[in-house]
Amino acid sequence: MPPATGHLRIIVLGSAAGGGVPQWNCNCDVCRQAWQAAGAVKTRTQSSIAVSANGHDWCVVNCSPDIRTQILANPPLHPAAGGGPRHSPIKAVVLTNADVDHVAGLLTLREKQPFVVHGTKAVLGVIERNPIFEVLDEQLVARRPFCVGEPFAPLAGLTIEAYRVPGKVALYLAMADSGQLETAAETDHTVGLRVSRADGSASFHYIPGCAAITPELAGRLCGSDLVFFDGTVWRDDEMSAHGLGAKSGQRMGHMHMAGGTGTIAAFAGLDVRRKVFVHVNNSNPALIEGSRERAAAEAAGWEIAYDGMEVVL
Ligand code: MLT
Ligand code: MN
Ligand code: ZN
Repeated sequence: MPPATGHLRIIVLGSAAGGGVPQWNCNCDVCRQAWQAAGAVKTRTQSSIAVSANGHDWCVVNCSPDIRTQILANPPLHPAAGGGPRHSPIKAVVLTNADVDHVAGLLTLREKQPFVVHGTKAVLGVIERNPIFEVLDEQLVARRPFCVGEPFAPLAGLTIEAYRVPGKVALYLAMADSGQLETAAETDHTVGLRVSRADGSASFHYIPGCAAITPELAGRLCGSDLVFFDGTVWRDDEMSAHGLGAKSGQRMGHMHMAGGTGTIAAFAGLDVRRKVFVHVNNSNPALIEGSRERAAAEAAGWEIAYDGMEVVL
């Protein structure tokens, strides 16, 4: 039964980092289990949530290359019966950065459907400069910039306020940039979101990419009911330790869960009632049910998001 109106309804459409779980060509210990139907790792699609304040109209936060699969898997996002020749409950897309896993799905939403894409000027500028996104007919799909610190309403009854978090420009832009890569700068290229009902009765934070927890960010999250946070890697060096690639979590602009400098430790004193890791990379052993790492995260009060996870506030 869908909840009555008057709630904030959140569906995790995709709980994995870029590439999903398993990643198409990955044989790591985690993916090996995900390739097997009876393995201890659930398959996961790429990073996205959907939010609704009335149960009918939905705002998708980050639009992953898996959006079509995600819509198929979630009936609230299907075209309404009797909604006319074309219909979608998705009325808005809000972007937290311009990474491939967060924007490539826009190309799938190109079939003459009106909705609004919200992002900072920096993030919308990346899309603007890439002509493939012109498949979204500008007569139907408006691009609306938001400013950090200035709340906006992507749907009636839903308020979002963005704030800068330490991070990087999209990796593909960083590759083109021959200069020193800045991976923990606080710029409009990577934001976190406070999402709330317009009447202020419920709110949560969504931060799928974050390179460091600054005192300011800790203060912002302190006392929250619910935080979805960057759970990319367990250990900063796990990709290279498993022969998957040279990049560290930090180099990708992401926090690690474990250890004295990790997210679990940073949240220990923050009084956040519900803590959920999202954007979990295929290399992260916390994805393995029953693993030591999963047990440690859960013992510290964390949940590992899975596709289709639903929260009503
Ligand atoms: C990231 O979160 O760092 C990117 O999504 C990585 C990628 O481009 O796959
Ligand atoms: Mn990503
Ligand atoms: Zn893997």
